[in-house]
Amino acid sequence: MVVVANKYDKEELTTRVHIPFIAKQNKNEIMGFIENQKWRYATKKFDASKKISSTDLEKIKESINLAATSYGLQLFKVIIVENPETRETLKQHSWGQSQITEASHLMVFCNFNSVKSEHIDSYLKLKAKLIGKEESAFKGYGDFIKSKTAEMTPDQTSEWNAKQTYIALGNAMAMCAELKIDTCPLEGFSPVEYNSTLGLHKIGLEATVVLTLGYRSVEDKTQHAPKIRKNLKDIFEVL
Ligand SMILES: Cc1cc2nc3c(=O)[nH]c(=O)nc-3n(C[C@H](O)[C@H](O)[C@H](O)COP(=O)(O)O)c2cc1C
Repeated sequence: MVVVANKYDKEELTTRVHIPFIAKQNKNEIMGFIENQKWRYATKKFDASKKISSTDLEKIKESINLAATSYGLQLFKVIIVENPETRETLKQHSWGQSQITEASHLMVFCNFNSVKSEHIDSYLKLKAKLIGKEESAFKGYGDFIKSKTAEMTPDQTSEWNAKQTYIALGNAMAMCAELKIDTCPLEGFSPVEYNSTLGLHKIGLEATVVLTLGYRSVEDKTQHAPKIRKNLKDIFEVL
């Protein structure tokens, strides 16, 4: 009993000493996050002379890789298009939007157009390795995922995988805002033309959504526009 009482005393002490400090620190970080979200806007004109450093690019990649996905399968890829001619071609298939060629980086988020047994097996193999268990420990879970994903039509599978890419897109945009890197997400493009230009179907992928990243041009008037957002009360309902 004494041991338990001491344990609680210790926890209480830890709570009393550390929580106010942590709460203050978190409050600053949270306000920083909100301020950075207010700073972020869909950039229309990038400064083509400014490039994202490889250090920052790695952080953005990490934020994409850390995005939550259904079952954790990560059935998407992100194509970083560097080739200037390819970017020019893609611009023509993106309503001529200048961000495609002027941003420092162009990321094409792509979903797998199917869920194969190999996708699930390779996920479970990795999980078993990282947890330090035999793959056979996850056979029942694997069979469950396979049976649930088999219920979907090919179109539903594509759509389900495509949805996952938007969570990764959101992570990347939030990360960029933290790094004071500008972004513009784009759906104003032809997925059919992107699939063909980048040869995506050959590798079981299809273009979902595009992210342009870099640094705003001083000439971009949009940066001075007010944020147009509803009131929170119009977004949230409490039942
Ligand atoms: C999925 C998605 C697709 C978008 N597609 C385009 C696009 O093709 N071109 C563009 O200039 N902006 C595009 N936007 C930017 C939106 O218009 C912009 O986010 C919205 O008007 C809110 O403005 P803000 O992001 O500056 O706060 C897109 C945004 C999202 C989330």
